[in-house]
Amino acid sequence: MTISDLRRDFSGDTLSASNTPSEPISLFAKWWSEATAKNVKDINNCALATSSLTGMPSVRMVLLKGWSDLGFEFYTNYESPKARDLLENPKAELLIWWADLARQIRISGTVAKVTKKQSEAYFHTRPRESQLGAIASRQSQILDSKETLIKKVETLNETYKNQEVPLPENWGGFIINPSKFEYWQGQPSRLHDRIIYEKLALEWKKFQVFP
Ligand SMILES: Cc1cc2nc3c(=O)[nH]c(=O)nc-3n(C[C@H](O)[C@H](O)[C@H](O)COP(=O)(O)O)c2cc1C
Repeated sequence: MTISDLRRDFSGDTLSASNTPSEPISLFAKWWSEATAKNVKDINNCALATSSLTGMPSVRMVLLKGWSDLGFEFYTNYESPKARDLLENPKAELLIWWADLARQIRISGTVAKVTKKQSEAYFHTRPRESQLGAIASRQSQILDSKETLIKKVETLNETYKNQEVPLPENWGGFIINPSKFEYWQGQPSRLHDRIIYEKLALEWKKFQVFP
């Protein structure tokens, strides 16, 4: 078997203009509950694409930590390269791929920081080790050795012994306020179904597009 022989024929419910709602969030809710019911592994894993003002794109995985009519949230270091991109060019796309269901969802729009209160609330739900890790990590900066990081976490553990770990200033959430969704359902013979929703003048418009 060579790489050019690798292929999988997909199947799944059909997706068309006539069997989808007029707005995208209720379809997200339906797909999310179907993925939950099917125990899709790593359901909240998504790829986040950002771009610097020079136009250089970057993509990396993040964990989706909340979604509603208001937007889609993830948490990160506010001094990381992704955050720098988002602060200078507050636009992004999230991509979710649920292989077991042969479903891809793309969500793009404008990005803003969530409130400090929201970041605080989420930060304190994280395990203590993750909280200490968030303070210790200068995300994406050069690390001389793993030892340095481990020592930093141990020191912080002592500093905050018997205390709540405080939310660091440089850590928190972003929320994407979507203006475009794409729902992709794999189908046999590469005749996949794709439905796009675009917000135009505050109204959602829906299109079916070629695969
Ligand atoms: C499955 C998975 C989930 C991840 N979730 C997050 C996350 O929620 N937040 C985060 O900052 N980094 C997360 N990461 C690490 C990022 O992919 C990335 O390595 C890191 O944030 C640095 O990205 P940047 O240099 O582009 O800012 C995750 C990585 C993987 C593989």
